[in-house]
Amino acid sequence: MVHGLVTSPIRPLVAVTGGAGFIGSHTVDLLVARGCRVVVLDDFSTGKRANLARWADRDRYGLGGSEPSVEVLTVDVSHGLFAALAPITAQHGRIDRIVHLAAQVSVIHSIANPLTDERVNYGGTLHVLEYARATAVKKVVFASSAAVYGDVAELPVDEAAACHPLSPYGMHKLASEHALHCYSSVHHVPTTALRFFNVYGPRQDPSSPYSGVISIFADRAGSGRELTIFGDGEQTRDFVYVGDVVRAVVGAALTDGADRAVMNVGTGSEITVNELARTIVELTGGKSTIRHADGRAGEILRSVARVDRAERLLGWKAQTALRDGLANTLRA
Ligand code: NAD
Ligand code: UD1
Repeated sequence: MVHGLVTSPIRPLVAVTGGAGFIGSHTVDLLVARGCRVVVLDDFSTGKRANLARWADRDRYGLGGSEPSVEVLTVDVSHGLFAALAPITAQHGRIDRIVHLAAQVSVIHSIANPLTDERVNYGGTLHVLEYARATAVKKVVFASSAAVYGDVAELPVDEAAACHPLSPYGMHKLASEHALHCYSSVHHVPTTALRFFNVYGPRQDPSSPYSGVISIFADRAGSGRELTIFGDGEQTRDFVYVGDVVRAVVGAALTDGADRAVMNVGTGSEITVNELARTIVELTGGKSTIRHADGRAGEILRSVARVDRAERLLGWKAQTALRDGLANTLRA
């Protein structure tokens, strides 16, 4: 799985924290397709080597047929990046750009474990920024979240709305955004924060009770098992397909523009969890039943993005309709 990188002055060297995860591995695929060399830093707490398996066989998949493009390092980002990256940069030159996706991703887990969430999700971001400051990285792109908003009065929510997060996860994503702004203002580290709404698609891991709802529903409905909806199911989410999300991530990483920008990455459409469950049951042949359980604490009731800022600053727009994205996910 670990390969040597080709030394190249023209192919940007991009570090992707959390690159073995769901969004991370799709990001790696697109960066390599765009001609980048990639270093993945991941502690494999939820990420999987299998997500990067296509890069394991350099003769088949390496750029140009034989040039290896991806190096994989086992690193906990909350312990810092310098020691792990030193051998890479000694051989291949400095890291040009960083996509920071490594995180504890569950809102519910963060409510039960706020200090772990702080160490990984806020501390990890500070370590990334310290590395970027010290080595003059040209851009840091950070995976923020719609969870920074909490419940808002006006929907669709735009980036200027006041943020009142309802979970430690949302708090630490917001604190990380402030850290990006500070490092950009004080140390001139160019940064972009992308507030992902609910991302779904192939490779999202359904195995934990904390997993993304579409991965759980798709997995269970695919084998005719019962789906559980927490609460009355009238809560809404803006589900955005991973193929669309990584176009925003890679666009933000490879541009020198959008410094200090914070952008929503969503579709602008919302759907209730009830409607989502019904659609997935229908797409899988209608065998699963649906039951309701107690609602979760710290839940946002309605979530839908205003999306014009990303279009203006990055020329980005979600293109995948939910039914198409669900069909791709169910096929995978
Ligand atoms: P994921 O769990 O598949 O990816 C997270 C990756 O980070 C995994 O590979 C994991 O092993 C790694 N990781 C966790 N802690 C680490 C640490 N201390 N050091 C190094 N690596 C570590 O989840 P994902 O959905 O791909 O999430 C990627 C990013 O996007 C996260 O920052 C998450 O908060 C953010 N995000 C996701 C969604 C969504 O709907 N999936 C929405 C908003 C924001
Ligand atoms: C998700 C992401 C989080 C991200 C946020 C942005 C995951 C695990 N969490 O949080 O990283 O920052 O979006 O908006 O990807 N539900 C059920 N039944 C289930 C599972 C969930 O009814 O079996 C419901 C939940 O109660 C919730 C909705 O589905 O109302 C979405 O839940 P979930 O996928 O866990 O995501 P968020 O909490 O919105």
